[in-house]
Amino acid sequence: MSKPTGPDGSQDRSGPQPASGSAALSARLPDFPWDRLEPAKARAAAHPEGLVDLSVGTPVDPVPPQVRAALAEASDAPGYPLTAGSPRLREAIAEWVSRSCGVSGGFGVLPTIGSKELVAWLPTLLGIGPGDVVMIPSVCYPTYEVGARMVGATVVRSDSLLASGPARVKLVWVNSPSNPTGAVLPAEHLRKIVDWARERGAVVASDECYLPLSWEAEPVSILSVCDGDPSGVLAVHSLSKRSNLAGYRAGFVAGDPALVRELLAVRKHAGMIVPAPVQAAMVAALTDESHVAEQRERYGRRRERLRQALTSAGFTIDHSEAGLYLWCTRGEDSWATVDWLAERGILAAPGEFYGPAGSRHVRIALTATDERVDAAVARLVS
Ligand SMILES: Cc1ncc(COP(=O)(O)O)c(C=O)c1O
Repeated sequence: MSKPTGPDGSQDRSGPQPASGSAALSARLPDFPWDRLEPAKARAAAHPEGLVDLSVGTPVDPVPPQVRAALAEASDAPGYPLTAGSPRLREAIAEWVSRSCGVSGGFGVLPTIGSKELVAWLPTLLGIGPGDVVMIPSVCYPTYEVGARMVGATVVRSDSLLASGPARVKLVWVNSPSNPTGAVLPAEHLRKIVDWARERGAVVASDECYLPLSWEAEPVSILSVCDGDPSGVLAVHSLSKRSNLAGYRAGFVAGDPALVRELLAVRKHAGMIVPAPVQAAMVAALTDESHVAEQRERYGRRRERLRQALTSAGFTIDHSEAGLYLWCTRGEDSWATVDWLAERGILAAPGEFYGPAGSRHVRIALTATDERVDAAVARLVS
């Protein structure tokens, strides 16, 4: 039996080796970084008061009761669900996008099996291939690169659009608020990216899964800077963080209706369908904002406690204006900081996992229980 995959792809790779055909594809992918964290994890777990795991951004708080009830009520689901989503779900997504992304009408919507699935498969679904370029942020969620490498495209890792040179750019990924840095891109910056991409016929995919979690900056959806015309633009959203639904696999994409129709056409053939009970649960989650506000407050309290403790322990916190992470540094190689924290029973993700430019930072996730956050704080300030 395979072990569960974390949101960052943290999975045990032990077990039978794949057949040679699939080995060829996996060989194109980046090294699997989480295995390299195992020694630090073992050291941190040896702490007499136990491990505080702040490495992976996996939610730990309960699924809202009304969402669980909706899932249970929809459990008698013998027939195939619609790949496009039930009419009720499509309506709930469209209403949420209008409300939360500051855009009205004129966009397509499509549910996805969590957003990691869409991130990994988007280049495939868009027909991108060898010779095409996919641009990703210099420090970012690793799956943007994975999706591009799966189709044999060239990856350009940069925050400057000029870095592409004369290359045939087919897809530009942006992520605001960012994982791992928590940086927020201003509206004018997003608008420039949209204009630049349109001039070249490239698609802009904006991963906005942390949009509902802001602290010191107001993140905006890329859809809000398109003046009502989302041509060439896709916004990618997830219910994993806002509604603690990582275990349900619930996400969606919204934007250019022609692009969304194209994604739907391929996904119907490929069987990429969100299960009917999860579709019902998504409706319950998207039509309620009170549980999101409650969860945001929980994270806000944890963030403040950890921020103060890390600062008093000598860390500098950069960006981190929004999202689920504190992006911090002790002015040394990220692995040295991982070791320093592991001695105190705390596990963090080395910034190097997210790109070479992250090599002097660590990423501290806010996804631990209050009790574990208290334990981390006590160890950091002592
Ligand atoms: C930036 C970013 N995008 C996408 C995902 C995937 O989330 P999910 O597949 O749970 O929707 C994550 C998960 O951590 C993330 O950090």
